Amino acid sequence: MPRWWQDAAVYQVYVRSFADSDGDGVGDLPGVTARLQHIAALGADALWLTPFYRSPMADHGYDVADQCDVDPQFGTLADVDALLAAAHGIGLKVLVDLVPNHSSDEHPWFVEALADPTSPLRDRYLFRPGRGGGPPNAWQSVFGGPAWSQAPDGAWYLHLFDAKQPDFDWRHPAVHAEWERILRFWLDRGVDGFRIDVAHGLYKAADLADNPPDLEPDGVLFHASTMPNAWDQPEVVDVYRRWREITDSYPGDRVMVGEVFLSTVPKVARFVGRERLHQAFNFPLLAAPLDATAWQSVIALSLEAFEVEGASATWVLSNHDVIRHATRYGGGEPGRARARAATLTLLGLPGSPYLYEGEELGLEQDDLPAEARQDPVWLRSGGRVPGRDGCRTPLPWTAEPPGHGFTKGTPWLPFGPQAAARSVAAEDADPGSHLWFYRTALALRRELRAHLAREVRWLDAPPGALCFARTDSRGGELRVLLNTSAPAVPVPAGELLLASSPVTDLVPPGTAVWVKV
Ligand code: GLC
Repeated sequence: MPRWWQDAAVYQVYVRSFADSDGDGVGDLPGVTARLQHIAALGADALWLTPFYRSPMADHGYDVADQCDVDPQFGTLADVDALLAAAHGIGLKVLVDLVPNHSSDEHPWFVEALADPTSPLRDRYLFRPGRGGGPPNAWQSVFGGPAWSQAPDGAWYLHLFDAKQPDFDWRHPAVHAEWERILRFWLDRGVDGFRIDVAHGLYKAADLADNPPDLEPDGVLFHASTMPNAWDQPEVVDVYRRWREITDSYPGDRVMVGEVFLSTVPKVARFVGRERLHQAFNFPLLAAPLDATAWQSVIALSLEAFEVEGASATWVLSNHDVIRHATRYGGGEPGRARARAATLTLLGLPGSPYLYEGEELGLEQDDLPAEARQDPVWLRSGGRVPGRDGCRTPLPWTAEPPGHGFTKGTPWLPFGPQAAARSVAAEDADPGSHLWFYRTALALRRELRAHLAREVRWLDAPPGALCFARTDSRGGELRVLLNTSAPAVPVPAGELLLASSPVTDLVPPGTAVWVKV
């Protein structure tokens, strides 16, 4: 019997932008609790909550000042308990986000470490003397600019992200002990698992040496592609070996999924398995062009690497850090149609799809005016890098401005032009909507998944299309065909279960179908 998480459809709630219960314009935990039915009705098995911990919000909650308390903007610990109870009551599991690579500069450890050069807490971060009047090495922050800032006494501390996100020194045993405490705190509270932020980070090369100068970024700017000494060190998987023992010691199959932001399937695969993480996000697929040959090759590699004992594959097309996939695939109705085709293909595979709030509505990336943008990526680059605000605009629940059912106040980011037409209410009322397509596909997947073999057989398909089959234990098989660019191809013979866009007996480009043979 597969574990619940192996094939769970997980819905990512970007808490700030999901639902605001108190009118301050920022989404919060009671807002999530009030809207859980949307996630259940969608057909998801679980939700992942982005960080809601105490935070000065320099990176919208990924800068954590207290990992075991809730920021007043988002609610209270009692609100977490209420959310967990309500979710569990309707059969939804809940994952929370852990941020172990760094803390906020307002975390009590760092406050003391920064102020007092003699404090033993300094060793829990990476403080170093400068070099030739500048920082200790040439490492760059992911958000732009140097990865080092100075303490009042002149020492430098490392921050691979914002200056308000100092990196922990994972070579210090107190850091391990503290994170084991945090893990247990949330497990004891009843969460079903964790999404682990920057899971390939944590350790840095012990000598903090400069990186080879001639490395080129590889398209999507994967961490480690230009700074191998700063990421993906050999020691990091031992942390997850220990965390796996801890999570496995709790009843109820708790799960860990790592944000392993590395460029190839084998690099990511090192993080998953029986004595490692249960899952890691499949970013190589997200970065691949929507092209049958590229997709078939990443999917085949992923199945081989991730469908191993104690682990399972994941499929991700959107999240709060990347351009929404309806936009990446061309935008407008054609982009949304291709996005549905891509999603339907992935829903036909074994493993866990991770769905980002708003993709079920076919939302596109919003293009925000400069004065509305808040992402540190935008701010630190002096406006050169657009930043991630465009995929983080609030979820439109109703067609009515100004709050669109998200807030009674002023939303923290403005709604884009698509909010009215693509609201939950508008799409709910339209049986041909993107939303109803997601609901139908997820319901069908739920019905089929217990009967489908995990093995995927590739079938012949014309260039520009891909086709695979999974045997149904009740007889026959499910066939999934995705046409990315071939001239229209015949629908496989059998019963047409679902198509991502209307089809005749031909599947046009940018379309996927499920057929029961
Ligand atoms: C991860 C998060 C991102 C955050 C960064 C630093 O990549 O997904 O939103 O800015 O880590 O914590």
